[in-house]
Amino acid sequence: MDFLKTDAVSGRIIAASLNLEPTMTHMPLNPTVVSFFDHATATWSYVVYAKEHADRRCAIIDSVLDFDLSSGRTFTHSCDRLIEFVRTHDLKLEWILETHIHADHLTGAAYLKEKLGGKTGISRHILDVLKTWEPIFHNEANTPRDGAQFDHLFEDDEVFTIGGLSARIIHTPGHTPADTSYIIGDTVFVGDAMFLPDVGTGRCDFPGGSAKDSFASCAKLLNLPEDTRMYVGHDYPPEGKRPPMCMTTVGAQRHANVRVHGGVTRDAFVAKRETDDKGKAVPHLLLPSIQVNLRAGRLGVDGEEPFLKIPLNKLS
Ligand SMILES: [Fe+2]
Repeated sequence: MDFLKTDAVSGRIIAASLNLEPTMTHMPLNPTVVSFFDHATATWSYVVYAKEHADRRCAIIDSVLDFDLSSGRTFTHSCDRLIEFVRTHDLKLEWILETHIHADHLTGAAYLKEKLGGKTGISRHILDVLKTWEPIFHNEANTPRDGAQFDHLFEDDEVFTIGGLSARIIHTPGHTPADTSYIIGDTVFVGDAMFLPDVGTGRCDFPGGSAKDSFASCAKLLNLPEDTRMYVGHDYPPEGKRPPMCMTTVGAQRHANVRVHGGVTRDAFVAKRETDDKGKAVPHLLLPSIQVNLRAGRLGVDGEEPFLKIPLNKLS
C-alpha cells in the first residue's frame, strides 16, 4: 500500500485530494478511549475498550512509571489510576502497548503486567533501537537483543484484536526508528509522531531519528480518513493558551498542524525540523527511561538489586 502521497514537484502532502482507501476491511466497532495525563512528563496514557461490547478486554497505551531522578525512587500513582479504572469498570487488560521507546518517562508496562496481567507489545523495529543503545549501556546481560523481554513484536501492518475491536499497526518512524501508530476502529494513537495542531510533531534528534522519515510518517497519518480521531502521546500547550488536550482529527491536522499542514513541503519541513532540533537539551530522564523501557519496564534482573547506569560522555 502506498501511503506517501506527495506532489512530485512541490513535495507537498496532497492527501486531502486523494480518493482514500479504507484503513480496515472490517471495522465493526469503534473504541471508547479514556485518557490520563501525567503532568510531570506531559504524557498521555490511554485505556481503550469497546464500551457497549460484552467482551471486557482492553488495551493500555503508553503508561508511565513515576520516577524521581534525585532519589532514584519510583512511584506508581500514574499506573494506579489506570489500574483503578480497569478494575472499577470490570475490564480485563489484554494488551500493554508502547508506541515507541520513550526518552522522557519510564514505562509502567512491567508494573501493569504484574498487577493486571496482559501482553506487552511494541514494533519489531525495536530491534534496531536495541542495537543502537547496546554499545552505550553495555546492557546485554539484562536486555535481550532479540526483544524477548516483550511478549509480542508487531510486524508492520499487522492486524490484531483487543477484545471485540479490530486494530492494525503502522510504522511511523522519524522521532525514533521504531515509532509505531495503532489504528483501532476510527481512532489512531500516534505517540510522538505528531502532536496537536498548534504544537506540531516530535523531535527527530535522538539516535536513529530522521526528519525525512518523520515527514513520510506524517504523510501516512494524514492519509487516513479525515474524521479519524487522532490521540497524541504528549501535549505541551502554548503557555497560558489552553489546558493539555489529547485528541484532534486527521482533518484538523491536514488543515492546521503548524509543522506539517497540507501547504508544507518536504524540504521545508526537514529544514525547519533539523534547525529546531539542533542543540536541543537531552531530556532529563532520557538515560533512566531508555534503559528501563528497553527492558519492557523491568527495573533490573530478577533476584538482583536494580541499578541504572550513567554512561559518561556518550551523548552530545
Ligand atoms: Fe518520545
